[in-house]
Amino acid sequence: MKYGHFDDNRREYVITNPRTPWPWINYLGNEDFFSLVSNTGGGYSFYKDAKFRRLTRYRYNNVPMDSGGKYFYINDGETVWSPGWKPCKTELDSYECRHGMNYTTIKGVKNGVEAEALYFVPLKTWAEVQKLTLRNTTNEVKALKIFSFVEWCLWNAASDMENFQRNFSTGEVEIEDSVIYHKTEYKERRDHFAYYSVNEPMQGFDTDRETFFGLYNGFDEPQTVLEGAPCNSEAHGWSPIASHYVEVVLQPGESKELVYVLGYVENAPEEKWESKNIINKTKAKATIARFDTAAKVDAALAELNAYWDNLLNVFTIKTGEEKLDRMVNIWNQYQCMITFCFSRSASFFESGIGRGMGFRDSNQDLVGFVHQIPERARERIIDIASTQFPDGGCYHQYQPLTKKGNNEIGQGFNDDPMWLILGTTAYIKESGDFTILDEPVPFDNEIGSEVSLFHHLTVSFDHVVNNLGPHGLPLSGRADWNDCLNLNCFSNDPNESFQTTENKSEGSQAQSLMIAGLFVVYGRDYVELCKVIGKTEEAARAQQHIDAMVAAIKLNGWDGDWFIRAYDYFGNKIGSKDNEESKIFIESNGWCTMAGIGLEEGMVAKALDSVKERLDCEHGIVLNNPPFTKYYIEYGEISSYPPGYKENAGIFCHNNPWIMIGETVQGRGDRAWEYFRKICPSYTEEISDLHKVEPYVYAQMIAGKDAFKPGEAKNSWLTGTAAWNYYAITQYILGIQPTYNGLRIEPCIAPEWKGFAVTRKFRGATYQIEVKNPNGSMKGVASLTVDGKAIEGNTIPLMPVGGTYKVEVVMN
Ligand code: GLC
Ligand code: GLC
Repeated sequence: MKYGHFDDNRREYVITNPRTPWPWINYLGNEDFFSLVSNTGGGYSFYKDAKFRRLTRYRYNNVPMDSGGKYFYINDGETVWSPGWKPCKTELDSYECRHGMNYTTIKGVKNGVEAEALYFVPLKTWAEVQKLTLRNTTNEVKALKIFSFVEWCLWNAASDMENFQRNFSTGEVEIEDSVIYHKTEYKERRDHFAYYSVNEPMQGFDTDRETFFGLYNGFDEPQTVLEGAPCNSEAHGWSPIASHYVEVVLQPGESKELVYVLGYVENAPEEKWESKNIINKTKAKATIARFDTAAKVDAALAELNAYWDNLLNVFTIKTGEEKLDRMVNIWNQYQCMITFCFSRSASFFESGIGRGMGFRDSNQDLVGFVHQIPERARERIIDIASTQFPDGGCYHQYQPLTKKGNNEIGQGFNDDPMWLILGTTAYIKESGDFTILDEPVPFDNEIGSEVSLFHHLTVSFDHVVNNLGPHGLPLSGRADWNDCLNLNCFSNDPNESFQTTENKSEGSQAQSLMIAGLFVVYGRDYVELCKVIGKTEEAARAQQHIDAMVAAIKLNGWDGDWFIRAYDYFGNKIGSKDNEESKIFIESNGWCTMAGIGLEEGMVAKALDSVKERLDCEHGIVLNNPPFTKYYIEYGEISSYPPGYKENAGIFCHNNPWIMIGETVQGRGDRAWEYFRKICPSYTEEISDLHKVEPYVYAQMIAGKDAFKPGEAKNSWLTGTAAWNYYAITQYILGIQPTYNGLRIEPCIAPEWKGFAVTRKFRGATYQIEVKNPNGSMKGVASLTVDGKAIEGNTIPLMPVGGTYKVEVVMN
């Protein structure tokens, strides 16, 4: 069953039934100021950091689900309703939510009144702008009482949920004209406040939550709204909110637009005050003035749309597969922007409190984003690398506001360093900007410790080399990519975190075949980079380590029909025929096949066939099989999950593209394409009621074949799945690969594909690429022409900037 449909022309997903099986959300803003908004108006806003600068309060995992948001209440004399259905839940005559590129509109119709709320964060603006359009479609005069609503968060989202003995006494607001200012803690150490305005004189307001709702009422029945009269309450402590009250009289056919601005201001210490205890509102007023008419708001939205036109014009495809085209041209790229912005911090599954920017996560996110805004990717790479230590190890996460490593999580995830090579080489291949390698970058953000970024890559590579175990394979440390395979943890205390407990590492033999494969793949990238920049000795040195790793994998990592997953603390195999449970895992087979290890000996084909036989199912490829059915103290968190969920035999969508890419190494385009479709959201739209989460973005996990409910997805939006699937489809299936000196075209497609077309902007030129597949082949390029001229090989050389070039590729 579906709950809406795609509108590709407008780049929107249109939700027509508000009772989606889970809140279906969107993200507003993509630089400093952000909001999450659900299809019924739920969600919250923050500035840069969802933990430290939370503007509005949100109740995760509440009853009912999705409680708290940017709500409008309409009292039309008889009925009280909300355009988004929630929170009032008054039955609407019609409902439509359109999630677009960083904007959302929610429209409700009740008793002949149309109310449409547009939400977006204009470019370069520290504010969310809301335009509420009210239209009277009846023949009678309508007198409407409009109440807006947001609830302030007391800035630190963690203490906001905990420290009530303090919180209930600190809240402060100011009310001036039609603007409600939230200034809790401004008089002491904060240099920031928030505000919520409306571009009309208001006839009343409320800023005290209990006065607005009545102590025992829910969001669905605010007392003031039901009574049709605001109380003009002024919050002192307790829970400050902002609600404007505006009366609107509409003649038949008349409409009216109200503009609300929810913004954030920072003032320098000497400019904090206008007079004693009165905050300096200059910047707030300036922003409000930029959006004080509907026309200005419309212009800002048009700018945002033009901005997205530009971003999405860099790579567009036409394949004849509508569901594929809309993912690659619109939604998958959009999701990559979102994962770039938020890493794994704030979604409807990530509370915005627990996690900062992940070292491995954010590096991987770059491969889906780097072509959109290379300059921002560059900045991110430097930020990430600055959290590294001189030995190549690194903080697993950092907070976006401070850019400092997160001490609570710390370090010791031994895959982390290698991902910096991926992020950096992806950036250089896209931009051609080698100067980033000379950029001085500190260790652990320590001023004075700067070395070149290239040096950071060297220590990343060497971190693996310097941490090998008894089988010549990489020691896994706290965990590799699989955060739940905690081989040095041995925890039987439920109060310990699997992520941070490492109580048995001395003498550990825990080694990872996932890191081994990763090292070969990005080690080769490192070698290639060294050669390109003329560091031939370093290239030769690195190559020796890679050759040794390949040999070690073949010798100690092959189980007969697939690659084993790891060695545990004691040196016993994991993911082997000899194991009772979880005889085979996806990650090592993904990475070792991507690396082409044993391709000639048939290891790649065999490993992939084993994956197909044992891990594949209707909804995707599960992580391991058979699942763990009991807790193994020597494996850690992975065996804590019930079978079929998360890292214990869930379909962990992030790693499915590793197998797709492995299949392209083997040249089996049919398999790669089959795997791609299974987890691609637009292909699962029809089963939205089972799938549960948004059909326009990838989810981290779909319950696997051993789960209670196979096919049910969780944890949408913030997942490496976005970047990896984009990378797999664009670079390995469609095969459009940026390289240091041109665009390589290496498609690996299903044989029934007759061809496809791609427009790719690359290093200032535009390539209109037409791939033809006359013989139903899966891989291999027979000929390539640029503007009719034959090119040897399959790499389009860099053409003069500014030009548009026609490229014709014929497959074997
Ligand atoms: C989550 C984490 C990611 C990790 C994966 C597997 O998606 O964000 O860092 O690799 O889980 O455990
Ligand atoms: C090639 C070889 C394979 C080797 C790999 C690693 O793919 O066929 O045997 O393991 O390169 O360099």
